[in-house]
Amino acid sequence: MCGIVGILGSEPVARSIVEALKRLEYRGYDSAGIATIEGGKVERLRAPGKLHNLEDKLKTTEIKGTTGIGHTRWATHGVPNEANAHPHVSGDVVIVHNGIIENFKPLKDELQKDGYVFTSQTDTEVVAHLIARERARGSAPKEAVANVLGRLEGAFALAVLFSGEHDLMIGARMGAPLAVGHGDGQMYLGSDAIALAPFTNRVTYLEDGDWVVLTRNSFDIHDAKGAKIKRPMNFTQASAFMADKGKHRHFMAKEIAEQPEVVGRTLAEYADFSERAARLPEQVKIDFAKLDRLTITACGTAYLAGLTAKYWFERYARLPTEVDIASEFRYREAPMPKNGAAIVISQSGETADTLAALRYCKSQGQETVALVNVPGSTIAREADAAIFTYAGPEIGVASTKAFTCQLTVLAALAVAAAKARGAITREQERELIGALIEAPRHMAEILKEEKHIADVAREVAHAQDVLYLGRGVNYPIALEGALKLKEISYIHAEGYAAGELKHGPIALIDENVPVIVIAPRDDLFDKTVSNMEEVAARGGKIVLLTDDEGLEAHGQRTFQRIRVPRAHSILSPLLYALPVQLLAYHAAVFMGTDVDQPRNLAKSVTVE
Ligand code: F6R
Repeated sequence: MCGIVGILGSEPVARSIVEALKRLEYRGYDSAGIATIEGGKVERLRAPGKLHNLEDKLKTTEIKGTTGIGHTRWATHGVPNEANAHPHVSGDVVIVHNGIIENFKPLKDELQKDGYVFTSQTDTEVVAHLIARERARGSAPKEAVANVLGRLEGAFALAVLFSGEHDLMIGARMGAPLAVGHGDGQMYLGSDAIALAPFTNRVTYLEDGDWVVLTRNSFDIHDAKGAKIKRPMNFTQASAFMADKGKHRHFMAKEIAEQPEVVGRTLAEYADFSERAARLPEQVKIDFAKLDRLTITACGTAYLAGLTAKYWFERYARLPTEVDIASEFRYREAPMPKNGAAIVISQSGETADTLAALRYCKSQGQETVALVNVPGSTIAREADAAIFTYAGPEIGVASTKAFTCQLTVLAALAVAAAKARGAITREQERELIGALIEAPRHMAEILKEEKHIADVAREVAHAQDVLYLGRGVNYPIALEGALKLKEISYIHAEGYAAGELKHGPIALIDENVPVIVIAPRDDLFDKTVSNMEEVAARGGKIVLLTDDEGLEAHGQRTFQRIRVPRAHSILSPLLYALPVQLLAYHAAVFMGTDVDQPRNLAKSVTVE
């Protein structure tokens, strides 16, 4: 992961680089650094930890250069200390890198034999030394970079400066995103258009294998073979304004609260409210009526949206649907039917494994659709069709509003598929879309329960282990609840299909283990309640999430209850997602963790 930025500017660039890095912190926040060229020398400043540590250092150190690069790191090779922070320097070469150089070990051995001394544990330093060695052998900067690129294996985006070259920056992309920003007499490089938005809305995305030579007034893009190539310039919509927290303490709290609005906005794109009909975006060319199989693949929370959608596509559209996590799917050489389609889901649109899975699906002749939140992202650009969630920027590392927006789109798509396949009547379509339209209203109701949920969360936060149980379409919500809790509160949690409990996990149950039971009153309600009774009989502390009015019957058995509005079963995953998000959020606040930037994580995962 990591975020990189480069500026060929007309004034000192240090402040602008830091501003751009703030917009890239979602890509990692283990350390940060900048380097500029001033009077033929490199000025470099690096700091472990969050970007504000670098900002603090900048207050007391003058960095004057008008040519500079910056980096925010998500550690892969080497602990997050200052020595491992980018930029790295060797000879006249200064470099920042996003990605992993997979063959760094043999390259490092080779360089050490040649007398190069390593000052960090990073794979990146290998690239700096390789380019410096080319320079020492007499290559001009451009040739030096070109010669080295062919030797690198893995995924990378690079920005390179040379201390003697005030008007030169070289960028390269292989498997990690990189964009050129066009200014007037200034030129930029950045991991994405969002980083460049304060400077320009004119952006050229590099393709894999491309490398670019920038001066303040020119840019030459070369492909992997070295041939000059043209790539289109795009006018991006990325906003120059940084999202703020509003009245909320954390971005995550704000993003949870925004869900009624953004889910409504998203649904308006995929459903006709007055007709109560599903609307299939015209760029989606899947002929659902003739489709043999749908494959859905994604990572993390986005995968769980896909897993939920499997229940909808199979139940309502009678469409065989396979779902897999992208990091497994990409390597398992799955046979795919001739007449198949694939949906990949990604908030960021940059997740490396999801991108690889998309490419595999394309290579297997599938009609591909990307469901993403970030327009212009790599996954959006590479899929046959891109469709969007309208969640707005999601800053909190733990996905919340993007997830419920993904669910919203997928539910509407499942209804569209069901209609196309003749699996539902017009009346049923009206009923299902009518139910989805109710989502924002019900979500707003749930948000009113926040205080009670916070009280429950404080109890849950005392536990060492927490289990989540759900059945059917709410089984993925149990998994999502557990994922949310562990990633932001660091409390160990697992989600299980309620019926699976007795096949092993029930051994964990005692009076210290809270068990969050997701039990809407649907066809599986009685089954879930039976599983809950099994837990209660063993002293488990049950937190019941339900819309069941006859709760009194279970009154003595439950430790806490959270009420969710009664709604159509197609809607239940969208609704139950909210209390599990709020539980995790308030448990994390209680534990005092860094809610928006939990340890070891990053918002955009562009490494395998
Ligand atoms: C969890 C979370 C992650 C992401 C996953 C995929 O809260 O946010 O599990 O869902 O890293 O990211 P995207 O959706 O950007 O592909």
